[in-house]
Amino acid sequence: MARVLVTGGCGFIGANFVLHLLRTRKDVEVVNLDKLTYAGNLGNLAEAEGHARYRFVRGDIADAGLVEGLLAEGVEAIVNFAAETHVDRSIQDATPFLQANVLGVHTLLRAALRRGGVRFVQVGTDEVYGTLGPSGRFTEESPLLPNNPYAATKAAADGLVRAFHRTHGLDAVITRCTNNYGPFQFPEKAIPLFIGNALEDRPIPVYGDGLHVRDWLYVEDHCRAIEAVWRGGRAGEVYNVGGGNELPNVELARLILRELGKPESLIQFVKDRPGHDRRYALDSARLRAELGWTPAVTLREGIPMTVRWYREHGDWLRQVRSGAYRDYYRQHYHERHGLKA
Ligand code: TYD
Repeated sequence: MARVLVTGGCGFIGANFVLHLLRTRKDVEVVNLDKLTYAGNLGNLAEAEGHARYRFVRGDIADAGLVEGLLAEGVEAIVNFAAETHVDRSIQDATPFLQANVLGVHTLLRAALRRGGVRFVQVGTDEVYGTLGPSGRFTEESPLLPNNPYAATKAAADGLVRAFHRTHGLDAVITRCTNNYGPFQFPEKAIPLFIGNALEDRPIPVYGDGLHVRDWLYVEDHCRAIEAVWRGGRAGEVYNVGGGNELPNVELARLILRELGKPESLIQFVKDRPGHDRRYALDSARLRAELGWTPAVTLREGIPMTVRWYREHGDWLRQVRSGAYRDYYRQHYHERHGLKA
C-alpha cells in the first residue's frame, strides 16, 4: 500500500485528484491535509468520508511540526495542491499568496528533505511563463516571466522546488498546467461563474474585449497527468500539461450560453483585469512522449458535461455562492468525529 500526502485536497483540483485516486487505485492510501480556507470545501469530498483508505487532517502546510508528524507515519509522496490561486484576489492583496505558495511550499520541501525517501510533486501553472502573442506555445524551457502577483508566487515556488532538487538532491517533479474546468470548481473562476450567473439569468462579466485566449483542460485529464508524473516523471524535471483547447473568453461565454439555452445578451463586457495575460498555450510533447499521457476530453465534450454537473448540483453551487458551505465542517465533520464545534 502506498501512502500519499495530498495537500489542499479540499480545493477544486485537489478534491478531484483525491476522488480519482480512491476510485481508480486499490493500492493507494490518501492523507488529505487542508487548511479549509474559503476555497476548501469538505463537501467536495463527501464521497470519500468514511473510506478506509482516506483520512482528512485540518491544518496548514506551513506548520512544520504537523507536516513532519504526518510524514513520520510513512508517506512515499507529497502531491501539493495547496495554494492561493485566484489572480483577481492576488491583485487586491498578495500576502496570503506569499504565505501559502512560497513559505508553505518551503515548509513542505524542508520536511520532505528531513524525512528522506519522499517524492515531492508540485502542482504548478502555465501562468509562470507570462503571456503569448497570437502564435507559439510555451515549452518547459521557456523563461519564467510572471505578470501578476499570483503567478509570481507560483514561479517562486517552482524555483524553490528546483533548488531543493539541485542543491539538496530532493526527489522532486513539477507540473505546469493550463486552465482547468469541471466539477467542484469555486465559482469565482470564469467557467463556474459564467454557468452560475447564466442559470440565474444574471449578466456574464467578460473582461476587456473578451479576446484573451485560454487553453482549457478537463480536470480529470489533469489528475491523470499528475498521477503519471508522480509515478514516472524524471526527478528535477518539469512537465507541461496542455489541453490543446484554445478559445477566446467571449467564445467560451457563448458556448456556455448556447449549452444552457440562454441569450447572448447576457454577455456584459466589463473593465479589464490589470496585467491580464493575452494568451496561454502549452506544448506538452514531453509529457506525451515520456509518459504516454493524452487528454481524453475535448472542450466540446467537457463543457456540456460540466454544465450538466453544475445544473445537477444546484445545492452545491448555491451553498458555495451563499457561503453556507463553510458550515459543513462544523455540522458534519465535528458530529461525525464526536468533536466540539
Ligand atoms: P480565471 O478563471 O480567473 O483563470 P486565470 O485568470 O487563471 O486564467 O479566468 C479565465 C479567463 O477568463 C481569464 O482570461 C480572465 C477571464 N475572466 C473574465 O473574462 N471574467 C471573469 O469574471 C473572470 C473571473 C475571468
